[in-house]
Amino acid sequence: MQKVGILTAGGDCPGLNSAIVASIFELERRGLQPVLIRDGYKGLLSAADGDTSRSVFNTKHIDRALLYRAGGTFIGSSRTKLKDDLLVKAVKGVETLKLSGLIIIGGDGSLLSANRLSRYVPVAAIPKTIDNDVAATDVSIGFATAVDTAVASVEKVQDTARSHGDFFFVEVMGRRSGFLAAATALGARTDALVVPESSWSLESLLPFVAKSGIAVVSEGAWCSDLGDAAGRGPGGKLGGVASRIVKLLSATREPSAPKVKSVTLGHVLRGGCPSSSDRILARRFARQAANLAYEGRSGLCAKINDKVTYVALDRVELGRKYLTSEDLRELSAILPK
Ligand code: F6P
Repeated sequence: MQKVGILTAGGDCPGLNSAIVASIFELERRGLQPVLIRDGYKGLLSAADGDTSRSVFNTKHIDRALLYRAGGTFIGSSRTKLKDDLLVKAVKGVETLKLSGLIIIGGDGSLLSANRLSRYVPVAAIPKTIDNDVAATDVSIGFATAVDTAVASVEKVQDTARSHGDFFFVEVMGRRSGFLAAATALGARTDALVVPESSWSLESLLPFVAKSGIAVVSEGAWCSDLGDAAGRGPGGKLGGVASRIVKLLSATREPSAPKVKSVTLGHVLRGGCPSSSDRILARRFARQAANLAYEGRSGLCAKINDKVTYVALDRVELGRKYLTSEDLRELSAILPK
């Protein structure tokens, strides 16, 4: 029976376990043997050294129901770049484990390594990251849950801001993209939003902080007023934006003005049980990746592109819609035969 490795690489996020459990199920349905590789690419590198302890060949005793809805990744992950010698070693690891292919669940950095690896080993990729900055897909696994967590957290801060008449800057992750911050701002109906993609200055914030309220700030947002102590600064440092804004604004605040305070959500946004939408996306991506693995195709990544757009009102199909034959194929695993 052909063996297909499954590994999670890069930062963790909610929905990884859903994708792993769904990948196991979809590979088994196709007569393939799933092999879990622990700790991301490090698991392949260990195998190349003859240490196969980081590879799990028997997935029969895994509590799939429990793990499907659990946060994090139960097989571990690592931030390892595969290139040059490490790329050669990873290929050797795949050969040592006698894998016919890999399903790699990763974000932008890990997918670059996956792409290099795919020239030597059949690789099917699944995009995941709370940042939602993987260009190939509208949505990556982990984003929806992180938005839910961030919105719920911002709403709690809104309570105290209103109670005391303060203005809060709440910083969220997202690297150098503002997707997570923007979605949080919309979901929590905040007064302001600061993202890396739009220019701003401390002065431009003053109209917002004249009264009590709340702003969402992306960890990658930066302006020259901050110096290089925060955000995307000259040192490339991420984070520290909200606290830096508060420090600089407070230095020149009138005593009568609302107090400005900051909260940084950080890694809280990486944890938690995946939302239903992340579980559904993970399951759909896993089915796609297992199909690619079954067909022995390489260098391809699952994606979803249901953009919000518009259609002429006179179009006949604007009436009722029903599951398409493709929808039914996607659901075939659980439809009565
Ligand atoms: O890419 C996901 C992410 O959480 C980013 O939003 C964040 O900047 C980074 O990972 C943090 O990396 P680490 O967990 O290595 O500190």
